[in-house]
Amino acid sequence: MTNCANSKSVSANSDSFHELNEGGASVPPFSRPALRVAAFRFVGNDHSHVVEGGLVDVDRRLTHVELLHAPGERALAARVFELLGCTVSDSGRHWFTAFIDTNLRDYANNSFYASEAPAEQLAIEAAMADSVDEWVEMVRAAPQKSPHFGVRVGTVEEHRAIIDNIRHASINDPELRGRIEMLGLFPHDAPDATATNMDQAFIWTNVISSGPLRLGQVIELQWHLQKEQPN
Ligand SMILES: [Fe+2]
Repeated sequence: MTNCANSKSVSANSDSFHELNEGGASVPPFSRPALRVAAFRFVGNDHSHVVEGGLVDVDRRLTHVELLHAPGERALAARVFELLGCTVSDSGRHWFTAFIDTNLRDYANNSFYASEAPAEQLAIEAAMADSVDEWVEMVRAAPQKSPHFGVRVGTVEEHRAIIDNIRHASINDPELRGRIEMLGLFPHDAPDATATNMDQAFIWTNVISSGPLRLGQVIELQWHLQKEQPN
């Protein structure tokens, strides 16, 4: 994902609470890598900074996804984030963080947070009708139509390595067998490609979820042919 070279400061909201939880702080703008700014010619306005070849910064962005794990599965949840290529930071308090950009370690942007599912959610999930298998079958058939979020990685090699690692874990890891699954790979140049500007891989897991753990979470792992989309 695009790294921010001009982020706003973090206000006293729930995200800064996460920072306090981790004892870390959002990387201030002046300490971010200068390379991404200095090499480009900025045009545009206060709301976006367009450079030759693409968009490198925006004021409004998706900052994080908040996920839950089942009681006793915090370490397993951390392993799933690591399989996705994230770096986990866990100080042992309520939430832990998984950085999508492993170089930046920004607690306020481009991150996953995870914590144990509250009792109220677990009670609702226990009462859910037992039709989860049918739902997962639907997701297997058309993961693009499932509720999901997407993560972009930097290279096609990284994309393929993550896919291989998840496939391997889904078969060989006794704790993850049946708990994580590669649903499908859709290369950009396949005849039935949904998107011709990226390779898409859809992963399902019920170790972490931003909704009901019984339904699990679909994650779309992308590699873009062109990192930034031209305007
Ligand atoms: Fe998608």
